[in-house]
Amino acid sequence: MSAATVYSFPTTHALSSGLSDFVEHLSSDAIKKHDRFTVAVSGGSLPKLLSADLRHNSRIDFSKWHIFFADERCVPLDHPDSNYAELKTQLLDHIAEQIQPSHVHPINQALIEDPEEAAEDYMDQLKDLFAAKDSVKFPVFDLILLGMGPDGHTCSLFPGHPLLHEHLKWVAEITDSPKPPPNRITLTFSVLNHAHNIAFVTAGEGKQEMVQRILEGQGEELPCQLVNPVHGKLVWFVDDAAAGKLRVV
Ligand code: 6PG
Repeated sequence: MSAATVYSFPTTHALSSGLSDFVEHLSSDAIKKHDRFTVAVSGGSLPKLLSADLRHNSRIDFSKWHIFFADERCVPLDHPDSNYAELKTQLLDHIAEQIQPSHVHPINQALIEDPEEAAEDYMDQLKDLFAAKDSVKFPVFDLILLGMGPDGHTCSLFPGHPLLHEHLKWVAEITDSPKPPPNRITLTFSVLNHAHNIAFVTAGEGKQEMVQRILEGQGEELPCQLVNPVHGKLVWFVDDAAAGKLRVV
């Protein structure tokens, strides 16, 4: 994988604060350059780690944010498994007066019974924002925020799955996710790897070995190792517990 910068923090509290500063910086840069900030957010523990500090960050102009989901479970938007529901609780409800509702892009709830349709619809939502002139090959996010699963998966891209080799679709469906629930949609590597910035966020001792395998291991093809930005920057935000086995941080 391409060289990643690793930021390690003594506590998850410090991690959330460092992440908030990082996001603030990217957001203000993007807004200066093109008057908007496009971000895709994953599920799992990420919304909480991301939002703890960010939701109090009054220096950020959230009205210019466009928020997508890096992956989503095919469940109702108010279901406890919904990544949207988790981000809403952790962040969106706290910045409701600043964010524009039309700038938040959940999965189309009417299509959750049909993951293939849901994935196509999500690609259309991306096209509406990123490809109005039908001129882009892939959407280019200002920032994609990713988690790391214990098996090295990221988004809903799992080890050994045929989706690891999907090069055409922007969004794909998955109906056999080893992590429940089985039906999901996910951004593909083509979209991830065209982002301006990609940040992995992970914490806890339980992640130690996989963090080391991904960042220092060789000869594997774990999904997290396939995140290789074409032009963008790759950073990892971890706590010291997760970084415990890395040789140099
Ligand atoms: C999901 C995800 C998934 C997640 C990782 C890490 O919706 O399941 O987006 O890729 O980010 O499984 O989850 P944890 O941070 O909870 O370990």
